[in-house]
Amino acid sequence: MEFYEAVNRRRTIRDFKNEQVDMGTIKRILSAGLKAPSNDHMRNWEFVVIRDKDVIAAIIKKIPKRITDKRLDFITKSFKDECQHNMYKDAIPKQYQMLYEAGCLVLPFFKQKASLLEPKSLGSLNNFASMWCCIENIFLAAAAEGLACAFRIPMGDEAEQIKDVINHPGDYRMPCYLSIGYPADDAAIIEQKEINPDERIHINQW
Ligand SMILES: Cc1cc2nc3c(=O)[nH]c(=O)nc-3n(C[C@H](O)[C@H](O)[C@H](O)COP(=O)(O)O)c2cc1C
Repeated sequence: MEFYEAVNRRRTIRDFKNEQVDMGTIKRILSAGLKAPSNDHMRNWEFVVIRDKDVIAAIIKKIPKRITDKRLDFITKSFKDECQHNMYKDAIPKQYQMLYEAGCLVLPFFKQKASLLEPKSLGSLNNFASMWCCIENIFLAAAAEGLACAFRIPMGDEAEQIKDVINHPGDYRMPCYLSIGYPADDAAIIEQKEINPDERIHINQW
C-alpha cells in the first residue's frame, strides 16, 4: 500500500471482529514500530502480545464494562464541537469491548528509570516521546495490513493491575493498551476532524 494511502486509512476503530490476527502479521507490524526514531538510539521498547482471552480479561479487569446513558451525557456535554462530541460518544462506552474483542492486545513498554510525572525538563520526556513515535508506526503498519487499531491510556489503578498480571520489570512503563484486529463489518468510523493545512502552516513567522 502506498504511504499516503496508509496515512489516510489509519483511523481509530473500536469495533472488531472476534477473529485472531496471525503472529506473522503482528511481527511485521511491531517490526515497523521498532524502526521509529528513538532519542538515545537504543529503541528500548518491549511488547507483550496477548491473544488469550482469559489473560486479556484479567488485564482489563479494572476498566468499566458499561456506562449509563446519563453518565455518558454528563461526561460528553462539555464537548461542544460536534465532531469531537461524536467521537467521545462512540469511544467512552467501547473502552472495554475494543480491548477484549480485537484479535490481539499489545502492551507496549518503554524503559523509564526517572520519574515520568515530574520531569525536570522537556528532554526528561524523550523516552516517552520516542515510544509514541513507535506507536504511530505500529498504527500505520496495521492500516497498511488492512487491520484496525484502537488504544487506551491506562487510568487510575489500571497500571497496577497490569503489573500484577504481566509482572513486567519496575523500570518499564506502559503508555497505552493497543488493540489490533479485523474491523467489524458494521464498525463505526467517526468523522475525522478536518483541518485545512493552509490555516495551520505559518511561513517565516506565525
Ligand atoms: C495521546 C492519545 C490518547 C488517546 N486516548 C484514547 C483513549 O484512552 N481511548 C480511546 O478510545 N481513544 C484514545 N485516543 C484515540 C483518539 O480518540 C483518536 O485518535 C482521535 O479521536 C482521532 O481519531 P482518528 O485516530 O480516527 O484519526 C487517543 C489518542 C491519542 C493521540
